[in-house]
Amino acid sequence: MDIFLETRIWAVDPDYPDPRVIALAAERLRQGALVAFPTETVYGLGANALDALAVARIFQAKQRPASDPLIVHIYDISWLEKVAREIPDQAWMLAQQFWPGPLTLILKRHMRIPAIVSAGLDTVAVRVPGHPVALALLAQATVPIAAPSANLFARTSPTSAQHVLEDLAGRIDLVLDAGSTSIGLESTVLDLTVSPPMMLRPGGISLEALQQVRSDVAYCPRHIAADSIVEASASPGMLSRHYAPAARLLLFTGPSDSVLNSMYATAQRLIADQQTVGILLPEEEQAMFADMSVELVSLGSYTDLAQIGHNLFASMRELDRRGVDAMLTHGFVQQGVGLAIWDRLFRAADGHVIEVTTATS
Ligand code: TXA
Ligand code: MG
Repeated sequence: MDIFLETRIWAVDPDYPDPRVIALAAERLRQGALVAFPTETVYGLGANALDALAVARIFQAKQRPASDPLIVHIYDISWLEKVAREIPDQAWMLAQQFWPGPLTLILKRHMRIPAIVSAGLDTVAVRVPGHPVALALLAQATVPIAAPSANLFARTSPTSAQHVLEDLAGRIDLVLDAGSTSIGLESTVLDLTVSPPMMLRPGGISLEALQQVRSDVAYCPRHIAADSIVEASASPGMLSRHYAPAARLLLFTGPSDSVLNSMYATAQRLIADQQTVGILLPEEEQAMFADMSVELVSLGSYTDLAQIGHNLFASMRELDRRGVDAMLTHGFVQQGVGLAIWDRLFRAADGHVIEVTTATS
């Protein structure tokens, strides 16, 4: 059954949202509406986390499989005991250090949180978002808000209200539009129910920053084929095809010069094949494609990985909007936020990873 709703768009100031507008949005949310709202990472699609029916509507609107659990957003650390139980000391420590902020902790689920939120798992993902609009909404709603990224399942996450509408107009009740989000990549997901703690998804807080607090935090990137996911797995966010644009994305890795040459040769071949090619590169590397008939989108400066992270999803959506058949890009150094960038590119590529070893012409 498909959904036909009139999706309202309410503009709010990102730093000083009008409390009357937020109060109305919070009231709707409490009553079961789906409200998309900005966080510092990406836009979330929120529902009252205590209301199993409202949460079910999230899965329906996103066409998200019921096996993929949601993140519960809380106003501050004092709400943690309302959503989780048997909270270990290290959770309090990490929360003190990184909240509000892009860190999601996996803890034992409090029975007050309906099982559907966590796809039936005994655990719950929790975070305090670092965005004035999200915090104001939580404060007025006075209930925890379950919110995945506000995109259709497996598509790139939305970093603006416009992106939310591209995917979900007519499927949700309301979008709070506060412009584009600052980080542009989702939160880091850290599982504290296992020992040592396991980073399940790299994101806005780097592995290095986590390891400064807990030196034993582990990360083992595993990429599971989408069709092998039948039930909720231990780390459900690790679906390989995720964060994907509509066009196919070709991800080149290897020494910088060889990679650019190989991208150039591939672009020529695709163009000869009547395909529309998009090039997703930092400003400094665009010159060699300037004379080619390709769609060029800048990711920002090579020297600023945070900026590249901020622009990544928006740039993929921009190339999709221009109707390219293929987008060509390359990997970045896998440190700091670079690890999250690599993770999203790798998943978006869905197996189209080209390892370049020698220089090609
Ligand atoms: O930055 C973010 O995290 C954004 C904003 C809106 O907060 N949210 C977000 O949600 O990215 P979503 O649903 O797109 O991604 C949540 C990730 C998924 O990889 C999911 O599998 C994982 O968190 N997750 C949620 N609950 C989990 C649980 N109980 N155990 C393991 N992984 C869990
Ligand atoms: Mg998502």
